[in-house]
Amino acid sequence: MSAVQEKWWKNSIVYQIYPASFKDSNGDGIGDVPGIISQLDYIASLGVDVIWICPMYDSPQHDMGYDVSDYEKVYPPYGTVEDMETLIAACHSRGLRIILDLVVNHTSHEHKWFQESRSSKTSPKRDWYIWKPAKYGANGNRSPPNNWRSVFGGSAWEWDEATQEYYLHLFCVEQPDLNWENTEVRQAVYTSAMEFWLKKGVDGFRVDTVNMYSKDPAYADAPITSPGSDTQVAFSLFCNGPRIHEYMREMNDVLAKYDAMTVGELPSTPTLEGVLRYVSAAEKQLNMVFSFDTVDLGMGKDYKFLTKLRNWTLPELKTVTRRGQDIFNGTDGWTTVFIENHDQARSVSRFGSDKTPELREASAKMLAMFQCTLSGTQFVYQGQEIGMVNAPEDWAFDEYKDIDSTNYYHMVREMSNNDPAQLETAMQALQHLARDHARLPMQWSAEANAGFSPESSAKPWMRAHDNHTEINVRAQESDSSSVLSFWKKMMRLRKEYAEFFVFGTFELLDEQHGEVFSYLKRSKEGSVLVALNFSEVPQDFEKPVGELKLLVSSAEESERAELKPFEGRIYTILN
Ligand code: GLC
Ligand code: CA
Repeated sequence: MSAVQEKWWKNSIVYQIYPASFKDSNGDGIGDVPGIISQLDYIASLGVDVIWICPMYDSPQHDMGYDVSDYEKVYPPYGTVEDMETLIAACHSRGLRIILDLVVNHTSHEHKWFQESRSSKTSPKRDWYIWKPAKYGANGNRSPPNNWRSVFGGSAWEWDEATQEYYLHLFCVEQPDLNWENTEVRQAVYTSAMEFWLKKGVDGFRVDTVNMYSKDPAYADAPITSPGSDTQVAFSLFCNGPRIHEYMREMNDVLAKYDAMTVGELPSTPTLEGVLRYVSAAEKQLNMVFSFDTVDLGMGKDYKFLTKLRNWTLPELKTVTRRGQDIFNGTDGWTTVFIENHDQARSVSRFGSDKTPELREASAKMLAMFQCTLSGTQFVYQGQEIGMVNAPEDWAFDEYKDIDSTNYYHMVREMSNNDPAQLETAMQALQHLARDHARLPMQWSAEANAGFSPESSAKPWMRAHDNHTEINVRAQESDSSSVLSFWKKMMRLRKEYAEFFVFGTFELLDEQHGEVFSYLKRSKEGSVLVALNFSEVPQDFEKPVGELKLLVSSAEESERAELKPFEGRIYTILN
């Protein structure tokens, strides 16, 4: 099988860990590195190959560590650099690899580089960030250099009283953008953020917001898509700028010395050609990227929360899935498979059903089958393997901690003058799409705090889901029909049939069917059929020519021809 000669990261399953919410070892209510170490045997038991740790660097935590104040230190509540060294060694001794999050589009405003940069206009580091003078209207009113809206809402520019200029922050005010045009900045990033950790043995990086380092140098206004607003969506002007591929290649030269794996986060790049420029092996830039097609389904264009609930259709999911699968078809590129991460609500609540325990379990298993039969490097987010779901509908706004959620809610409150109906709509959107849902404590057991923090400890930083008494690792580990057991089985099957599931090509069947998602995975050795019922009622499905042999069903074995609600099946096709 050709799979054997392929790069190790292609046939790998990556397990993503959010340090604050994974396991709290010392009872302060915050997850930590020793907590991760204590669960490595569990992680290894899943059958995954790599762990990815979200930012554990020192940070004032305005954006949960994506605002790094020191790349060479660990956020003290999470632990120390020594703890990280222990974690790296403990992973390697179990045959697991470990990758970190590389957050270098911006730093924290508390990073010493920014402190120096903002100290005066003549600071040697002034040019390390993006500073621009104000614009003044006829009436003398000051306004930002352009109308760009930050990803978290509001202007992307912040006025600095002391030096009388604006600085750019594509994310929150406390995340000033680095100026990648400056060679010294790039070298400092390579040394401090990358090589410091590569030398300690990390196996690669997930590269945050990877296409935003090069901005359109004109800094022109973005086209008006929300009339009446003084800020506009500006992704087209700050993503994929003219120098981005030069930066990627330069960065890759450093990474290549360590044979590091890279997966870049690639928003706003909808075309195949656009993606391939980053991931074609000949380009020597990134190994693979996360495209947003699937996880953005149903989100509002102007504001992600400004949308209807479940505002997507199954044929749309099919189209975006095919787009992701086609990235490596006939090219030298590679692709990824994921439907959850720390920026997304839970997939069962978005794409399956959390209405009843039966539907929840059935859809969690069906989605596991979906992910495990798609080609590319697979990413599983903590808690996904036990079918964790969104926070309940009756949780109040103050249970939501994420800046993305709170900024939006406060904006609606302000703009609507506290209108209860609009606030209710905003709450519903948060309950459906907020990033907070992925950040609830990992549900280890039915005990208090879901076994995340010891019983006697401080309140966890986010409230544990009320359903942890039902959905938890301990209960599922000993139950052969649990979501967890099914995930393990599917991950084994993925490896066993890697030529179909990891490396096979994807062929959509019955494209317009609104309830059943079915496709063939083809390899030199033949084809397998995957049929997934995305609805709450039984469904018939189209069968290709050839004799079908059932390989696995996500539901209890049944003689019925129809798929049960949210059932998935895989057949081998004998010709
Ligand atoms: C990425 C991260 C997200 C963070 C943002 C800014 O999208 O995944 O969590 O808020 O970058 O760093
Ligand atoms: Ca702790």
